[in-house]
Amino acid sequence: MASKSKILFIGGTGYIGKFIVEASVKAGHPTFVLVRESTLSAPSKSQLLDHFKKLGVNLVIGDVLNHESLVKAIKQVDVVISTVGHTLLGDQVKIIAAIKEAGNIKRFFPSEFGNDVDRVHAVEPAKSAFATKAKIRRAVEAEGIPYTYVASNFFAAYFLPNLSQPGATAPPRDKVVILGDGNPKEAAPPVNVILSIQHSAFVKGDQTNFQIEPSFGVEASQLYPQVKYTTVDEYLSQFV
Ligand SMILES: NC(=O)c1ccc[n+]([C@@H]2O[C@H](COP(=O)([O-])OP(=O)(O)OC[C@H]3O[C@@H](n4cnc5c(N)ncnc54)[C@H](OP(=O)(O)O)[C@@H]3O)[C@@H](O)[C@H]2O)c1
Repeated sequence: MASKSKILFIGGTGYIGKFIVEASVKAGHPTFVLVRESTLSAPSKSQLLDHFKKLGVNLVIGDVLNHESLVKAIKQVDVVISTVGHTLLGDQVKIIAAIKEAGNIKRFFPSEFGNDVDRVHAVEPAKSAFATKAKIRRAVEAEGIPYTYVASNFFAAYFLPNLSQPGATAPPRDKVVILGDGNPKEAAPPVNVILSIQHSAFVKGDQTNFQIEPSFGVEASQLYPQVKYTTVDEYLSQFV
C-alpha cells in the first residue's frame, strides 16, 4: 500500500480546496485543515465543517496572517497544500516562511490549479495573478523547499461545463458567444478575470502551445495511469 502522508490544507474550505480535502481524507491520508476562528462560527461554513468532521478531517485553528499559528499547524504534518484564493496568493510568502521555520515539510503545493504560469502570455487582470503565482514559485525554489506545482488548466467548473460562457452554469440553448481576437477592452469585474483567462487559453493558446518537457513537468495521465480520464472531446460530446 502506498505510504500515507499527513497533509495540512490552507484554504481547505474554499471553492477548490473542499474537493481536495475530501479526496485526501478518503484516500486515507491523515488530513488537517487550517481554519480561522471566525470561520468556525460562520453559519455559511457550518455544513461543510460538519461534513469534514464526519469524514475524519482534523480542524486546526490558525490564520495565514498569524505566523505562530501557521508554524504550529505545519509542525504537525509532512505535506502542505495551499488552496488559498486570489486575494491571498501573494501572502503565501508567509506560508513559505513558516515552512522554513518548522523545518519538517517534505513537500509544498502552492495555490495554483490553473494555467502553467511560467508559460503564459496573458493580459490584465489575469496577467498580474499569474505573475504573483510565478513569484511564489521562485520564492519556494529559492528556499529549497521540495514542491509540486499542479497546473490543472480548466478543470474547475468555470469553463467546460458552460461552453465557456461567463456566468452560465450550463450550456446555453439558444445563443453561444464565440470569443474573438481579444481586442475589445472593457468588462467589469469579475467577468474581466474570466475573460482574461479565456484570452490566455483561447487566443494565446497558453494551455496547448507547448510540450510538457521532463525538465519541468509530467502529464498527469502518465503519473497516474490507473485513473480513468475524460478527454475534453469526450466531455463536450455530451452537449452535442
Ligand atoms: N482552474 C480553474 O478553473 C480555477 C478556478 C477557480 C480557482 N482556481 C485557483 O484555485 C486556487 C484556489 O482558489 P479558490 O477560488 O478555490 O479560493 P477561495 O474559494 O477564495 O478559497 C479561499 C480559501 O482561503 C481561506 N482563507 C482566506 N483568508 C484566510 C486566512 N487569512 N487564513 C487562512 N485561510 C484563509 C478561505 O477560508 P474561509 O472559508 O474561511 O473564507 C478559503 O478556504 C487559486 O489559486 C485559484 O486561482 C482555479
